[in-house]
Amino acid sequence: MSAALDTRALDERLAQHAQLFVQRFGPGPAPRRFFSPGRVNLMGAHLDYNGGPVMPMALDRGTFVALRPRADESLTLASTLEPDAFSAALTSLPSRPAGRWFDYPLGVVLQLLSQAREASGADVLFGGNLPIGAGLSSSASICVGTAFAFRALWGRAPDPLACIEAALWGERKWVGVQCGIMDPYAVALSKPGHVLWLECKDACYEHLPLDTRELLIAIVDSGIRRELAKGDFNRRVAECGRAFELLRRHAPEARVLCEVPLGLVEAHAEELGPLLLKRARHVSSEVERTHRARAALLAGRHADFGAEVSATHASLRDGYEVSVPELDCIVDAAQRWPGVLGARLTGAGFGGCAVVLLPRAAREGFAEHVQGEFARRFGRRPPIFFFQSDAGPRELRA
Ligand code: GLA
Repeated sequence: MSAALDTRALDERLAQHAQLFVQRFGPGPAPRRFFSPGRVNLMGAHLDYNGGPVMPMALDRGTFVALRPRADESLTLASTLEPDAFSAALTSLPSRPAGRWFDYPLGVVLQLLSQAREASGADVLFGGNLPIGAGLSSSASICVGTAFAFRALWGRAPDPLACIEAALWGERKWVGVQCGIMDPYAVALSKPGHVLWLECKDACYEHLPLDTRELLIAIVDSGIRRELAKGDFNRRVAECGRAFELLRRHAPEARVLCEVPLGLVEAHAEELGPLLLKRARHVSSEVERTHRARAALLAGRHADFGAEVSATHASLRDGYEVSVPELDCIVDAAQRWPGVLGARLTGAGFGGCAVVLLPRAAREGFAEHVQGEFARRFGRRPPIFFFQSDAGPRELRA
């Protein structure tokens, strides 16, 4: 599919979304329309909060935002994907989150308001075509998209770093997830035809070429959504913190766990104990894999790149222990399909999606094979999507 066709498809979807806006909020001036992508991470699993390198890219699916400014100070946040909506005056916004979907955009609005000199109200309708809570960062997508749209509404420059800051504040300080920096950076700074190389210890980044028209990115949704995922995720963050506390005594120059070499982790296996050893081994070996993957990608050695992706899955399954049988089944089936370069779970794990890298020539029959293998074991066929890489958030002009 050519880039021109992709743009038209997005334009059509956002035009439909604008119609839903009119049904929800009534006739009036056409709403402004924004798109903010989701992301998939290819390498650097669970490295961002350990200060390591990651290799995410934005997807051509994400959050739709339709927004109409209001003359008064009233703010309404509604969604085509959720039955409940938020409504209040900008001058009397709540002081704590409600435990609902709108906490994400509301946290971002609060952060932007704390810096705005003048702010008017708005009616906003969110929606989109990204599976929610599936490891494709629907949360960073809506948070960065909200920051981008409200900065536009309030006449401020579309500064990606300011959008990232607002998104991180919303998720960490308002919603309360101790997420790393990867997701909002990936959503805000990606370029089509590239993966983002982000060094999370100092937020330095560059774009590495990856043509997703020849090298396909398939995403297979296990359908598993764990309520406990937030708790499991924060537990891994804490385990890595404990491992680093022990290891830094032997590596005083290391500022983050990712700077502790694998050899040093192995040398202090006994002191770490079996659980922290497994976690630290994953982190240090993932840093090595991610650097090898980068070299392979830059040299056009796609088979070697894919082998690192698959090795990451084994490490996430056995060492970091964030896989589930459904994801292992998808990854095993994908890796057995002739031509597939690599497959792994993506995002935090505990359910969600697997990502598969395959050349265009291997596409035919691939989905049927993976869905058939999965159905034999779990009695249902998991949805499979093929994605293109995409750019960061943007406004679509009428
Ligand atoms: C989640 C978090 C990210 C990152 C990944 C694991 O998606 O939001 O910050 O830690 O897990 O790589």
